Amino acid sequence: MSENLKLQVVHYPEPVLRKRAKELPEVDDAVRETVKSMFVTMYEDKGVGLAAPQVGLRQRILVINPTGDPDQAEEELALINPTLIDRAGETTSMEEGCLSFPGIYAAVDRPDRCTVRAQLPDGSEFEREFEGFISRVIQHEYDHLEGVLLVDRMSPAEKVRNKALLEELIEDYKDRKAN
Ligand code: NI
Repeated sequence: MSENLKLQVVHYPEPVLRKRAKELPEVDDAVRETVKSMFVTMYEDKGVGLAAPQVGLRQRILVINPTGDPDQAEEELALINPTLIDRAGETTSMEEGCLSFPGIYAAVDRPDRCTVRAQLPDGSEFEREFEGFISRVIQHEYDHLEGVLLVDRMSPAEKVRNKALLEELIEDYKDRKAN
């Protein structure tokens, strides 16, 4: 895997994670390069999804591979300018992690199904309904484009349970800013 494409994942509470990401006016080579680098970064950091704000870019780009396995490239999904046009089905709870919250896992409630409309890296229009795990990953990553984070989706009990780890991330951030 080409190490030079690896981007730096930013951690909570870096302000870029709170900003709404911007629509891309066109799907060009620069966007395709970003997609490629985001996949490299996601695999290196053992993720199943990554949103552009997590690598410091205020752009509406998501990359997903529910297997997390670079050898299963046929499972890759890259979405440009995605919109969640529907969420449906039973709400289920499942433990989620996030590359911007290293070491933190929390149960999050989400509807089972979602329908997403987006552009693909080749510029074509895409619309599909997803269910189960990949639907959850899409909803988690889509949240990032709206500046919504794992910590916002935690129940009060989960927030208490993760309090020390969240405070540690805030301290790390303050240390980085001070240096
Ligand atoms: Ni995340």
